[in-house]
Amino acid sequence: MPLATTRDLLRAAQSGGYAVPAFNVIGVEHAEGIVLGAEDAQAPVILQLSENAVKYHLGAVEPIGRACAEIAKHAAVPISLHLDHATTIELCARAVSVGFSSVMLDVSSLPYDENVARTAELVEWAHPQGVGVEAGLGIVGGKDGVITTEAGLTGPEQAKTFAAETGADALAVAVGSTHGMRERTANLDLDRVERIRAAVNVPLVLHGSSGVSDADLAAAATRGIVKINLATQLNIVFTAAIRQHLAESPDVVDPRSYLTDARAAVRALVADRLGLLGTAGKAVAR
Ligand code: G3H
Ligand code: ZN
Repeated sequence: MPLATTRDLLRAAQSGGYAVPAFNVIGVEHAEGIVLGAEDAQAPVILQLSENAVKYHLGAVEPIGRACAEIAKHAAVPISLHLDHATTIELCARAVSVGFSSVMLDVSSLPYDENVARTAELVEWAHPQGVGVEAGLGIVGGKDGVITTEAGLTGPEQAKTFAAETGADALAVAVGSTHGMRERTANLDLDRVERIRAAVNVPLVLHGSSGVSDADLAAAATRGIVKINLATQLNIVFTAAIRQHLAESPDVVDPRSYLTDARAAVRALVADRLGLLGTAGKAVAR
């Protein structure tokens, strides 16, 4: 199936009242596991690569990006590619050149006016070529020593102004989650989600979803969040499967033996999350 666009997947989800998860890819086994899980659930998904993952791949988005594109094109369900937490237009352009249909500019820690200016500049570059832009307003902690605070949460009125001033296609909001949590103890402000939703028409994005309880994730998906970013949970099951395999078979040297288990663990978790978020069964033919 040809690559889907993030814009189409988010529009369908927004009008259908469900959320589409964006699962972070580290390597090819992640991408394969995510796609297999999406096929199991008959669901559309977004494969996303972060700028940090690109750095891990020696700074080149093209090899891992093209691999993701090929894996997605071989899937039986609609899949789009998204660049996450980018800080430069140059990296965005390189990702777009290999099939990414959307990019997130991570400049929400800058003063408001600079965030608006940088985001609007990216939108001006992206829209003529059909690329969607995810912007951020508010501070989701957990990266670079930043912590989530009440003062950093997204305000509904400012979100409305920000969306109008930037022309962004999706808005990442700070509503109580924190990146990289291993425990599901984040305190999500669901009322704030609803108030932002009432003020803003663009699809809302939840970052740092791994620390959010199932009940809050499901509620967020019905109360206004359309794109749900999930990374750490995948890495937890991926690494646990390898740990278990090596503990049971300490003499193993062929990476395929333990990576097969890791990929299967990702597959199972992805299918499970798609059921929770109401995305399962939404892979309609395009
Ligand atoms: O940037 C990453 C995503 O927002 C997912 O965060 O690792 O806490 O799930 P997470
Ligand atoms: Zn994030």
